[in-house]
Amino acid sequence: MHMKPIAAREGNHNLKDYEQVYKNFDWKEINNQFSWDTTGKVNIAYEAVDRHAEDPNKKDKVALLYSSPDREESLTFAQLKEKSNQFANVLKKHNVEKGDRVFLFMPRSPEFYMSFLGILKVGAIAGPLFEAFMEQAVHDRLEDSEAKMLVTTPELLDRVPQDKLPHLKQIVLVGGMREGNQYIDFEQEMKQASDELEIEWVDLEDGMVIHYTSGSTGKPKGVYHVHNAMIQQYATGRWVLDLKEDDVYWCTADPGWVTGTSYGIFAPWLNGVTNVIRGGRFTPEDWYGTLEKYKVTVWYSAPTAFRKLLSAGSEVANKFDLSSLRHILSVGEPLNPEVVHWGLEAFDKRIHDNWWMTETGAQLISNFPSLPIKPGSMGKPIPGVEAAIVDNEGNVLPPKQMGNLAIKKGWPSMMRQIWKRPEKYESYFINGWYVSGDSAYMDEDGYFWFQGRLDDVINTSGERVGPFEVESKLIEHPAVAEAGVIGKPDPERGEIIKAFITLREGYSQSDELLEEIRLFVKKGLSAHAAPREIEIKDTIPKTRSGKIMRRLLKSWELGLPTGDTSTLEE
Ligand code: WT7
Repeated sequence: MHMKPIAAREGNHNLKDYEQVYKNFDWKEINNQFSWDTTGKVNIAYEAVDRHAEDPNKKDKVALLYSSPDREESLTFAQLKEKSNQFANVLKKHNVEKGDRVFLFMPRSPEFYMSFLGILKVGAIAGPLFEAFMEQAVHDRLEDSEAKMLVTTPELLDRVPQDKLPHLKQIVLVGGMREGNQYIDFEQEMKQASDELEIEWVDLEDGMVIHYTSGSTGKPKGVYHVHNAMIQQYATGRWVLDLKEDDVYWCTADPGWVTGTSYGIFAPWLNGVTNVIRGGRFTPEDWYGTLEKYKVTVWYSAPTAFRKLLSAGSEVANKFDLSSLRHILSVGEPLNPEVVHWGLEAFDKRIHDNWWMTETGAQLISNFPSLPIKPGSMGKPIPGVEAAIVDNEGNVLPPKQMGNLAIKKGWPSMMRQIWKRPEKYESYFINGWYVSGDSAYMDEDGYFWFQGRLDDVINTSGERVGPFEVESKLIEHPAVAEAGVIGKPDPERGEIIKAFITLREGYSQSDELLEEIRLFVKKGLSAHAAPREIEIKDTIPKTRSGKIMRRLLKSWELGLPTGDTSTLEE
């Protein structure tokens, strides 16, 4: 049934003998890669940046290579240390303390990275927000986290409902000021701030980042990660990304999502590697142009991007010199075997799929450079991680049987809390296993194969969207009485968001109204959460307890059998 595995290329991989390492591995073996193992003083920003800045051989190496259509800039490890120290001093001046939440809501820019690191350096917790979020999405995250400070730009300030956020004490504006003396001017204060800092030493178990992510019910939840995650972020940087001293690495994810922090900040810098940052969403020419211009060697992207490049055709690819590329990786959605085969043609390289989630903090299952790839499989667990397929009671199922993809509790980068919701956190764990919400099976060789989500979470172009959030926004529109939202399979985007709604009295169906409703969600939440399709129904199917039966909507949409409908209300 499966296509022939694609053999690993001979080469100097960082994990040559997977089976051997896997059998005997203990996470403690990684500890001696960090200064805290001897000094007892911990801070992930120190290990990622300052440690290299203090190394005479590394300090002048480029850490950050930033490029956007109108700006190009690079910062060495020494410069990044100084800039983040300066920002940490700005935070201190304004009374930010260990454990405070400081959120960032801005496009990718060098200032984003200086600020992010500065926040960690004072022991505060960074909360990066995707720049496309609109008012409601911004509000919900700042309110839930009780963020004390926000770093943003004058352009995005209108989406921050300051009057509704009593905990938000201060706003730092990057790249220009606004009327009113309540704002902190990034440029001005950075100029005045010292570049020397007493960094805040923390505990491995102290918080560092909160990422909000969607489930199938309720508002987005705050996934809380601690400094200890660095152990796994560093190790996977070597084993999975195959990072080496002279690599030029490019992760295309925005730091508003976990890939953009764990693998857009921590993994490359913990490994002391040059990190390319490119802002915005781009055309195939921009993608290839960036690879060529910076001679990228290791490239981490997503199926959506690869599918776009595939459909642009090989004529576009052939215009560029992509010979610097050594290693390509993919995450976020199923990587179709066709795309893996296209990668072999277009780049003469394998595309290495890997699996993890916001909650897991780092990669857990991967196609290592040294393993044969079975196209369509996510690969095998990383050393130190036990993965299995379990039933709903947490019993391990035999190979080839489909069930819940689960991970034995206790890997280094595991989330430590769902912010302020301990019962929600506990609900992830059954019988000592973290249950992911994905269904999968393991084959006889120990490779894992993704089958789908077991809950109603939507994955559109690799971005995770909770149906509840979209439904809540839809019913705020005066024309909408009820709403049910599902993911509908789509060849390019994986899934698109489809909404079923009922109309209130006095409204009737028209294209203008549907477009207005779509824009309403887009303006309230964000473009990626707006339904591409809206269908008007007479009723929305609900259980007797009032829960929307999204599964039934989906079956109708796909023309599938409707299954058990005994809980359907009359
Ligand atoms: C969900 C997590 C942290 C990675 C970025 C997304 C899906 C992730 C794969 C893969 C098929 C995948 C799963 C997972 N997913 N990787 N290789 N193949 N599906 O993080 O937003 O927390 O989403 O993305 O459904 O549960 P996220």
